[in-house]
Amino acid sequence: MLGLTALVLVVLRLVLRLRLPTPALPEDLSALQKAGAKGAHVLLYGAMLAMPLSGWAMQSAAGNPVVLPWGTVLPALAPQSLKTYGLLREIHGIVAWLFIALVVAHIAAALHHKLVRRDGVFSSMAGRTSRHQ
Ligand code: HEM
Ligand code: HEM
Repeated sequence: MLGLTALVLVVLRLVLRLRLPTPALPEDLSALQKAGAKGAHVLLYGAMLAMPLSGWAMQSAAGNPVVLPWGTVLPALAPQSLKTYGLLREIHGIVAWLFIALVVAHIAAALHHKLVRRDGVFSSMAGRTSRHQ
């Protein structure tokens, strides 16, 4: 249920992200650093979608319907098959580790902005200042 809640939240977040303006990265970041930041954010969104979807599909393949607390049965995302279950279970575990590594690298980058570059990127996420102005 926690994973499915995360799925709903990331879909809402993606809709807002695509509709609302976002602050530009500081001008003095190299093209490589800008590409790195963008690539990492795309991968974070990818992992946030892949985790709950692979979990749900894995349960479908195992033949365990995913039931919401009020009784609604979610549709199966994959046909029932032991082989597919095994594959999705592997994928769910591997993506989980990649996700954790990505989050650690992401927090390290945020701290680099805060402690080394001191360029306001961290504060824009912490909510104290905005780079929109
Ligand atoms: C953001 C969403 C999710 C995250 C971060 C997440 C994370 C994880 C992690 C870290 C594991 C252990 C992996 C391993 O030991 O290799 C796991 C296992 C599992 N997850 Fe998820 N999961 C998510 C969503 C879901 C959803 C939506 C379902 C099902 C509807 C699900 C079902 C399972 C099951 C059945 C296992 C295996 C438990 C076991 O074999 O002991 N997960 N998940
Ligand atoms: C201590 C924890 C964290 C800190 C300090 C942090 C900090 C930041 C900062 C400074 C930015 C850049 C904001 C900007 O450009 O103005 C950012 C963006 C982002 N963070 Fe984090 N973050 C943290 C944890 C996480 C986690 C756990 C996730 C994923 C589950 C995540 C996902 C993202 C994504 C996807 C973006 C890109 C937002 C967008 O442009 O749509 N962050 N974060």
